[in-house]
Amino acid sequence: MRHQMARERPTNLPSFERQRDLILSERISRNIVFMSDTFETLRAKSALITGGLGFIGSNLAQRLVDLEVKVTLVDSLIPEYGGNLRNIEPFKEKVRVNISDIRDEHAMEFLVQGQDYLFNLAGQTSHVDSMNDPYTDLDINCRSQLSILEACRKNNPGITVVFASTRQMYGVPQYLPVDERHPIQPVDVNGINKMAGEWYHLLYNRVYGVRSCALRLTNTYGPRMRIKDARQTFLGVWIRNILRSDPLQVFGDGRQLRDFNYVDDVVDALLVAALSADSSGQIYNLGADDPVSLKATAEMLIELHGAGTYEIVPFPPDREAIDIGDYFADYRRIHSQLGWKPTVSLRAGLGKTLEYYRLHYADYV
Ligand SMILES: NC(=O)c1ccc[n+]([C@@H]2O[C@H](COP(=O)([O-])OP(=O)(O)OC[C@H]3O[C@@H](n4cnc5c(N)ncnc54)[C@H](O)[C@@H]3O)[C@@H](O)[C@H]2O)c1
Repeated sequence: MRHQMARERPTNLPSFERQRDLILSERISRNIVFMSDTFETLRAKSALITGGLGFIGSNLAQRLVDLEVKVTLVDSLIPEYGGNLRNIEPFKEKVRVNISDIRDEHAMEFLVQGQDYLFNLAGQTSHVDSMNDPYTDLDINCRSQLSILEACRKNNPGITVVFASTRQMYGVPQYLPVDERHPIQPVDVNGINKMAGEWYHLLYNRVYGVRSCALRLTNTYGPRMRIKDARQTFLGVWIRNILRSDPLQVFGDGRQLRDFNYVDDVVDALLVAALSADSSGQIYNLGADDPVSLKATAEMLIELHGAGTYEIVPFPPDREAIDIGDYFADYRRIHSQLGWKPTVSLRAGLGKTLEYYRLHYADYV
């Protein structure tokens, strides 16, 4: 609990130089190469985060605010998705919030203007929902991505865009670990639409020179994720269940392997991708060094919480039809080109996540 309180930023923030030095030394000790002039580059710049009230977007927003970036968040706050105003409570006075839908082309044409960076994170994230309501997924994850890029091309071609893509588009892995050359064989509507969204970004980079790159995220978890249900990640609903003493449900035989990234590591990756001159037009996998089975993940969570149970249950048919089996990524490309590597172990990250939700449970259920 003490640790969580320390993560909430005080209102009387230390000077920019002090913060930069603190973050710089933290990053160096975490083996990520951040040059001090990189932080000077960000200071006073403007960044737009689509999906900024969501899980990853709000964690990124907090980091950018700490770095004295002028941050604007766009989010539709559709109740089934991960947006939550509580996510920005500690720093809400320091960001502009625009409750808009990225499907609104006129809003996006206006919002991209004057921005140095666009972190394009808004998305429909549920794989099952994408099968039940494929057109909404198409509109948000595919069509809107094209219109956002059109807005950039017409109104702000000098912007730098980082797109939150997904490992889902690889489908059932043909080999492990999965690198960026692995065939693309999406197993659900969401994977197809995210793929198209990603490729529009690369196309606009190549043809129109709108600097863009894509990070293919794997399972990301941490404070501020949606725990109401399994729409964002099964880990969310596991955290909810363990805190209300319900069993964790593990589908299948529980031996499926996954890799997980703690959200701070993903924020690091979004920043290095935005700041690097080498990232334009590139695709990068994120991943972790410690792939683990779902059963072992449930056991670790129970051990960290000091209580809880899990049950192995058959896959619900709608999930089984789109399951990808074992997956873990080869993230050597982003490591060798941009210096990124994950630094938070699953055990440490789950511990921090549990601490957060013990304090803030009521805001998320
Ligand atoms: N969390 C993961 O494990 C994971 C894995 C792979 C990819 N991603 C991608 O990362 C991005 C962020 O995911 P997240 O985990 O933070 O999920 P999230 O649901 O918390 O964040 C997405 C945000 O986008 C907003 N949004 C959705 N549709 C919108 C619309 N039409 N207009 C405006 N805002 C809209 C939601 O309200 C939400 O706040 C998504 O694009 C997702 O596909 C996440």
